[in-house]
Amino acid sequence: MFSVQVDSGPFLHYLRAVQYSFWESRWSSGQIGFHLDRPNPALLAHWADVADSGGSVLVPLCGKSHDLQWLAERGHTVRGVEFVRSAAEEYFEERGLEPHITTAGDVSRFDAARLEFYVADFFALTPASVTPSDFIYDRAALVAIEPSRRRQYIEQLHALSRRGARLLLVNFVHDIGSGPPHSIEVAELEEHCHGVFELTLRDERDILADEPRFAQRGATHMVEQVWLGSRIGD
Ligand SMILES: C[S@@+](CC[C@H](N)C(=O)[O-])C[C@H]1O[C@@H](n2cnc3c(N)ncnc32)[C@H](O)[C@@H]1O
Repeated sequence: MFSVQVDSGPFLHYLRAVQYSFWESRWSSGQIGFHLDRPNPALLAHWADVADSGGSVLVPLCGKSHDLQWLAERGHTVRGVEFVRSAAEEYFEERGLEPHITTAGDVSRFDAARLEFYVADFFALTPASVTPSDFIYDRAALVAIEPSRRRQYIEQLHALSRRGARLLLVNFVHDIGSGPPHSIEVAELEEHCHGVFELTLRDERDILADEPRFAQRGATHMVEQVWLGSRIGD
């Protein structure tokens, strides 16, 4: 993927198309090394510090993650967002679920039990299309998007969450030199969240030994950081 600074009008359109085609080809060719066959360990370890059971959780750029089911089983209403339709279809097929599907414009919504799975471009959503949530869970989402859109992404999290919403964000810092996952240094993360989310670093550890695919790409470290946050403002 490449990086551009201009993010409006025809460029935005072009950027969206390039990003969609990048991710669609990852899904269609089965290059989904980011997908875990179990709930994410950081979620299991830290979610209790974010939420009790109940309330709604926004899961941007959710893929077909087992985290969706884990959160729903804790009693949350889960709102996953993913723009590759086959990822949504696989999620439900693998569980033998037949979701109720509705479509409005460019947004399709797959509903089953406590899960609302939106097949849509995350940046195109509004509080009118997705009810703002009480919690946000970001794993491999901020680090997956085009770097020039990070602030816009954080503002979308703000727009799609409720006053006082709590956040669990899993970030990566590495030295591969390209992404995704893109490396985001602490100073940059804090700058993007300034005035929007208040962040605290809860945990960090080098996961390179557990994730050989990153060493194969040239990484000498792959630090996974777990940030907890609170939404600022109304
Ligand atoms: C690195 S994967 C992470 C998936 C999931 N969070 C997980 O932990 O398995 C990023 C996902 O975001 C999706 N994606 C990328 N840009 C998106 C966008 N603008 N709107 C919705 N989904 C997007 C991709 O198709 C991909 O499935």
